[in-house]
Amino acid sequence: MNAPDGTLHTDFLVLGSGIAGLRAALGLSRHGAVLVVTKDQPSESNTGYAQGGVAVAIGADDDTRLHLDDTVSAGAGIVSGAAARVLVEEGPERIRELASWGARFDREDGRYHFTREGAHSRNRVLHALGDATGWEMVRALLERAHRTEAIAVRSFACSTDLLVRDGIARGCRFLDEPGSETAVLARATLLATGGAGRVFAETTNPPVATGDGAAMAQRAGAALLDMEFVQFHPTALAVEGAPRFLISEAVRGEGAYLRNAAGERFTDELAARDRVARAIVRENREGRGPVSLDLRHLDAERVRTRFPRIAATCRRYGIDITRDPVPVTPAAHYVMGGVATDLHGRSTLRGLYAAGEAAGTGVHGANRLASNSLLEGLVFGARAAEGIADHAMGSIREELQRRCWQALGLERDGSSLASLERWLDERRQAAPTRPADRAAAEDRNLLDVASAMAASARFREESRGSHYRTDFPSPDERFHGHTLLEAGAPRLVDVETPVPEGARC
Ligand code: SIN
Repeated sequence: MNAPDGTLHTDFLVLGSGIAGLRAALGLSRHGAVLVVTKDQPSESNTGYAQGGVAVAIGADDDTRLHLDDTVSAGAGIVSGAAARVLVEEGPERIRELASWGARFDREDGRYHFTREGAHSRNRVLHALGDATGWEMVRALLERAHRTEAIAVRSFACSTDLLVRDGIARGCRFLDEPGSETAVLARATLLATGGAGRVFAETTNPPVATGDGAAMAQRAGAALLDMEFVQFHPTALAVEGAPRFLISEAVRGEGAYLRNAAGERFTDELAARDRVARAIVRENREGRGPVSLDLRHLDAERVRTRFPRIAATCRRYGIDITRDPVPVTPAAHYVMGGVATDLHGRSTLRGLYAAGEAAGTGVHGANRLASNSLLEGLVFGARAAEGIADHAMGSIREELQRRCWQALGLERDGSSLASLERWLDERRQAAPTRPADRAAAEDRNLLDVASAMAASARFREESRGSHYRTDFPSPDERFHGHTLLEAGAPRLVDVETPVPEGARC
């Protein structure tokens, strides 16, 4: 909605259109209007560049306990166990959901194909279109978001600061391409702005990854968590003048070797990322570099079909990955820290939420397990939507009371009652069918009873006793009776016997 001063109004504001933001937007769309603000085209995010895959314990030889153990040991002693359990246990359902929304994960012989990546005890990395997993996942989410009426997307809009009043985040300001500034006011704001790889000279991240969420949250007074933990991916393409294009860990998972300039292997290619990255730096520092990835011993046809995007990109720089060593170097890849949140995305600032790479839940500890990030975006994006919806329902009471006081108070009229009814209907549809606590149960009751009052008051087109209608200021004999409301429909019944004795025994 656009106010006369140009301020936009929405129920929920989502900053960022990667996997976490879009999944959250889809969850929120059941509860109100969602505006997604994204600073480039919607498909441009870290998610779109994620190649190797998404780790999920749904293979026949796998279970969530093993995935949890691997996640915890990669995180070097400071993984939040509760967050990691949520990730691995809710991950399978989120992946099945996304597949049912059209994401095409790769199969072999009709079954999902799982590849291996570093520090995983099982082959559990699901992939799509060979090495374009993030692109495919975000495609499925974006297509669904575009089909969802309650979601609007504002592209090429760079959010600059959060709007905070009375200690509550109430939206943001953003700049359009031509540099004009717009304010958006919302009941809740979700930061899903992705990573901050662009802090570093060498990074696999696209230009959009400038840490916008953590920076805006910090300026607004929210706490950040674990900002010192930055993951460096061991293998970015090291061609002079070319961007540090990611050469997926899945390439090593499928058997590629790392070799120094003398052609020697010098590390376990599937060790944790930090160890492999430091081993490469050591080879370079001690004069045994440059280091390259060697796929020449692998089946060339399989390499080309498994990694089409990597093959095509390397070809642009004159490298045939089936015949030539691929020069690689470590590059900043993922920030484990972010806006400190609980398991439903709630930050320390009221009204502000975060999910995905922008958030710091403690789920990755000091080092993220390979391919846990796409899963994180899906799982915690969905959870943030739940957290926001709970908050919205929690804070609905004040708004309900204000609206009812205005439209259903001492003086009433037909059109205000009709618009109150519309508002109540929308909120009733969004209310949980099984409230989680007393406040939610009471809110649902308030919505229902207010709706009954509004329907009855609109039906009675006269003024009588406590019921005063400015559009019908006198009593009217046509309404000499009681209002019986059944299944939401009001009708007039007899004064003496509104419900005849024994009528329904
Ligand atoms: C990769 O394909 O190596 C990146 C996946 C990730 O960041 O976990």
